[in-house]
Amino acid sequence: MNSGEGATNVVWHAHQVARDERAEQKGQKPCVIWLTGLSGSGKSTVANALEGELFRAGYHSYLLDGDNVRFGLNKDLGFSDADRVENIRRIGEVAKLFADAGLIVITAFISPFRADRNMVRHLLPAGEFFEVHVHAPLDVCEGRDPKGLYKKARAGEIKHFTGIDSPYEAPDSADLTLNTGELSVQDAVNQLLAFLKARERLA
Ligand code: ADX
Repeated sequence: MNSGEGATNVVWHAHQVARDERAEQKGQKPCVIWLTGLSGSGKSTVANALEGELFRAGYHSYLLDGDNVRFGLNKDLGFSDADRVENIRRIGEVAKLFADAGLIVITAFISPFRADRNMVRHLLPAGEFFEVHVHAPLDVCEGRDPKGLYKKARAGEIKHFTGIDSPYEAPDSADLTLNTGELSVQDAVNQLLAFLKARERLA
């Protein structure tokens, strides 16, 4: 390694099996469905339900979820701005690899910064990255507080909590917005499925 710039003397290897062939073998079109939104907005719940529907319909998918990834790959990262940038950079690269493998990838991360989400969009071939804003107003998310974290953040026990003392930059032009303050989980999933069909990612 050399002063944070990565390895030198590495050469990209072309693989014998092409990206398209891996997808074709699975009979599907890979993509990354990137859910972004506040903690408590319903990202994980919707992502889980969507993956269940895709699985039952015979698709090959993988769900990357903020809380779980932070137990393993990203367990060295916290919630400073710099760590969140690195969190999303790594997830973007992993999502890209899984899409390369032919999978339909669903991600559920707050991913609070527009620039990071755009960076991931540009890692993927055009038309394979969908930014989905899982939108519920802060007071609704805080009212739900499924993990009791907003309460702790308000009490000052957690610093840099998104929406409280750390920013959330809502998408300027999301490919899809799910108003999860009003929609049922099933309705949100149905909207996603209809969207993916309209974009010809699902049959
Ligand atoms: S991100 O901002 O870097 O994209 P990520 O989605 O991985 O965040 O993790 C968010 C989850 O971590 C939240 O759902 C919550 O359970 C937990 N968490 C712990 N501390 C914080 C914090 N300071 N801000 C936001 N989420 C936090």
